[in-house]
Amino acid sequence: MRVTITEIKEMKHRKEKIPMLTAYDYVTARMVDEAGVPLILVGDSLGMVILGYESTIPVTMEEMIHHTKAVVKGAKKALIIGDMPFMSYHISVPDALHNAARFIQEGGAQAVKLEGGEVVAEQVRRLVDCGIPVMGHIGLTPQSIHQLGGFKVQGRVVGEAKKLLSDARILEEAGTFAIVLECIPAPLSRLITQKLAIPTIGIGAGPDCDGQIQVISDMLGLYTEFVPKHAKQYARLAGEIKAAVSNYISEVKSRSFPTTEQSYAMDESLLKQLKAES
Ligand code: KIV
Repeated sequence: MRVTITEIKEMKHRKEKIPMLTAYDYVTARMVDEAGVPLILVGDSLGMVILGYESTIPVTMEEMIHHTKAVVKGAKKALIIGDMPFMSYHISVPDALHNAARFIQEGGAQAVKLEGGEVVAEQVRRLVDCGIPVMGHIGLTPQSIHQLGGFKVQGRVVGEAKKLLSDARILEEAGTFAIVLECIPAPLSRLITQKLAIPTIGIGAGPDCDGQIQVISDMLGLYTEFVPKHAKQYARLAGEIKAAVSNYISEVKSRSFPTTEQSYAMDESLLKQLKAES
């Protein structure tokens, strides 16, 4: 049985921290799931860490559905959340419903995430009414990077802090089952977390959120072009992969790979016959 949104909400009430990670492909999703992560986000961060875009803005619905399918195949137990890409939920409520339904029907996800507070409340309400669980996302919302003027901590001035608190309340009221708080000062996240009955999931939002999310490529040390302050590298796979590839190159060049161990034998008489006939 897959983890449900009810179980996730109960974790907050039991004061049990909620670990969450992104995944974008079958193999990684399988490992993350087997390790016991209850929530997996197929983040639109895949635009940067998988597809090499400069931001998440170019990511399309087709790309998101493609990766969501792979993650759903790999992870059997975790609740899978599909991240709605830029402009897939802003244009109209019917558009948001149509695109969210694609994540559930075609992608096989159990929930969707969308960025923004009050501005997306109507969409959240309709999605939840139609039976689609929604995760909110406020603070540094990468799809609004041009409006925010860069990857900056949000909520350091009183107006911004009040707006974040109000957005969090509006999202809870609209029916989100949890809210991502990204790059918000730790004391503000603590306050938001205390004020809400639903779980907060932090990234760069301090230790007092109900859960934490990391981009898998950051925490494995795979994506090294830009390492945010809030990312902790639990492994340095980029270095290990480069070392393995260098080793492979030198073994191929020096003829020490492959050996008989990696080769297939053939019946000697058949070989003799082939040689004679050719
Ligand atoms: O796309 C993503 O990976 C995200 C997380 C950073 C929350 O939105």
